[in-house]
Amino acid sequence: MRYSLVGLALVAACSGREAARSGDSAVTLASSAPVVTRATFGTLPDGGVVEQFSLKNAHGIEVRAMSYGASITSIKTPDRAGAFGDIVFGYDSLGAYIRDASYFGPTVGRFANRIARARFTLDGRTYALAVNDGVNTLHGGRRGLNKALWRGEPFTRGDTAGVTFRYTSPDGEEGYPGTLQLAVSYGLTPNNELVIDYEATTDKPTPVNVSQHGYWNLHGDGRGTILDHLLTIDASSYTPVDSTLIPTGKIAPVDGTPFDFRTPTAIGARIGQTDTQLRFGKGYDHNWVLDRGGRTGLVHAARVTDPTSGRTLDIATTEPGFQFYSGNFLDGSVHGKGGQPYAHRTAIVLETQHFPDSPNHASFPSTILRPGDTLRSRTVFTFGVTR
Ligand code: BGC
Repeated sequence: MRYSLVGLALVAACSGREAARSGDSAVTLASSAPVVTRATFGTLPDGGVVEQFSLKNAHGIEVRAMSYGASITSIKTPDRAGAFGDIVFGYDSLGAYIRDASYFGPTVGRFANRIARARFTLDGRTYALAVNDGVNTLHGGRRGLNKALWRGEPFTRGDTAGVTFRYTSPDGEEGYPGTLQLAVSYGLTPNNELVIDYEATTDKPTPVNVSQHGYWNLHGDGRGTILDHLLTIDASSYTPVDSTLIPTGKIAPVDGTPFDFRTPTAIGARIGQTDTQLRFGKGYDHNWVLDRGGRTGLVHAARVTDPTSGRTLDIATTEPGFQFYSGNFLDGSVHGKGGQPYAHRTAIVLETQHFPDSPNHASFPSTILRPGDTLRSRTVFTFGVTR
């Protein structure tokens, strides 16, 4: 196990439940607990049936996730006036998700982010992976976890309602060794937390790095630029990259650079500065090294605030890294929900993960999962509003 699960959010949720139990009737508890419903979303060309699960809590927050790619398809939260809006990008039809090359909302892996020259050496053997990003491999290859049909099962645990998606990635898929058993759970709590739990086991040593690839725009319903969103990242250093977005191996301080988000800063404040790293990323497309301060388990990683709507998003994770991508490759050519064009920098991707290209950097935290071990990773997204 890479990290022990401290599960702060779950602890908070459980203590809330105890309070409700001692003060309220069981009926009140049941009616205020989040609920999960399931429905068919569409059918794949091979006949596979894709299901969508809706999680809703008593505050009206609703998260939808589907079994194709274990993807989040929508998240509706209120702004400061109480008006609900969908704060993630996506599409209206399964066909559009099948064609998608931007990774709107899925679970990415087996290895989220890039591996240099699509190869790595493990225990003396070199493995060649699918090349799908220049000379590198990105987000699991040509047919990553985002293009797999997972099996979804709804659950209620305490006062959390959710869905667990399972998928077995066969030995050799996209070049990765080992049969990988994966589970991804999305759970919604009464405290407006979306708790994401990852679990994986393997029958051969293999690198694993899974993440959620939602594109966020806190204005709601994809409205406008994200350059006005305020971002805080709890990180004093980051991993600079080469021109193909592969880490050089250096861990560099953010101090005095446009990468210092230790205090809330507008995403657009420094994105246009003359800076080699910003040039390589065409904006922000980098991994920050979270300030864990020696702590294992869940730590706060980042906060996003939209001053206009008042919506806030807090992210906590058991992972050591945090990729912030400022939607630089969006250019309006992809049309999403309601047919709207998704324009340059109208969404951000916030990926909790291990560092990119870890299998080729012995100094980075290891991503190698071995038979007999279980990978457990948790990320919690908390939705709020500020006045
Ligand atoms: C990467 C970007 C990439 C995007 C869509 C992000 O996670 O950091 O470089 O363009 O995914 O593939």
